[in-house]
Amino acid sequence: MNNSKSTNFVRIKNIFESISNEYDFMNDLMTFRNHSKWKKEIAEIAIASSPKRILDIATGTGDIAINLSKINGSKIEGVDISGNMLKIAHKKINELKIDNINLKTCEAENLVFNDNHFDIISIGYGVRNFSNLDKGLSESYRVLKKDGKLIILETSVPENPIIKFLYTLITRIYIPIIAFIFSGKTKAYIYLLDSTKNFPPKNKFIEMLYKTGFKKVETRRKLYGASTIYIVSK
Ligand SMILES: C[S@@+](CC[C@H](N)C(=O)[O-])C[C@H]1O[C@@H](n2cnc3c(N)ncnc32)[C@H](O)[C@@H]1O
Repeated sequence: MNNSKSTNFVRIKNIFESISNEYDFMNDLMTFRNHSKWKKEIAEIAIASSPKRILDIATGTGDIAINLSKINGSKIEGVDISGNMLKIAHKKINELKIDNINLKTCEAENLVFNDNHFDIISIGYGVRNFSNLDKGLSESYRVLKKDGKLIILETSVPENPIIKFLYTLITRIYIPIIAFIFSGKTKAYIYLLDSTKNFPPKNKFIEMLYKTGFKKVETRRKLYGASTIYIVSK
C-alpha cells in the first residue's frame, strides 16, 4: 500500500469503526428504507445460480449475508475491515441462530481465499470505499469461479437534471442534518457522501469491470438512479 492509499484505508476504517452503532438506522433514513428491498433483490439474483459458496465483501452489519444465508445449501463468508461493524453482524447472526455464515476481518484488496472458489460474490455499498478499486475488483475476479456472478449494489449520481437537483438537496442538506441529529457524526457522513461523488460514473465503472476481465455487465437502476445494482459474470 502506498502512503495516500494507506491514509485513505485508515480513514475509512476509522469512520466505520465510529458509526457502527447507528449505521443500520442511518441507512434506513438515508435510503428511505429502500436498502432492505435492494439487499433482498441481491439474494433473489443469487438464488438463480443455486450457489454453494458465497462471499459477501464489505459485509458490514451483515444484512446481505443474512439474506444470502436463506439460500438452501449455501455457505457464506462475510469479510470486512471494521471489527465494530462485524460485531453488530455477529450479534444479528447469533440472535437469528444462523449457522451458515462465517465472518472474518479481511480487506477486499487482499482476499484470503483460493482462486476460482466462489459461485457468487456480493458487495453492498462497499466498492466506493475500497482504498484500491482496481485491486479490489481483480481480487474478486480471482476468487470467483468461471461463470460465477459478482453482484454489486452501489450509490450513483442520477443523470436526470431535476432528479440530480433533488439528489443534491438530499445529500447536501437532508443527510448532514439527520446525521447531526441522530449520530452527531456529520463529518463522517459528509466524507462518505463525497466518496459517492468521487466514485467513477456508471459507464466508467462498467469499463473498469470489463477491463478486470468480467463479461456481460447488466445494470438495474434504483430510486431514479441514486443506487445501481451491477450483475457481472466471470
Ligand atoms: C457502507 S458499509 C456497507 C455495509 C453492508 N454491505 C451494507 O450494504 O449495509 C461499507 C463497509 O465496507 C467496509 N470496507 C471499506 N473498505 C473496505 C475494504 N477495503 N475491504 C473490506 N471492507 C471494506 C467498511 O468497513 C463498511 O463496513
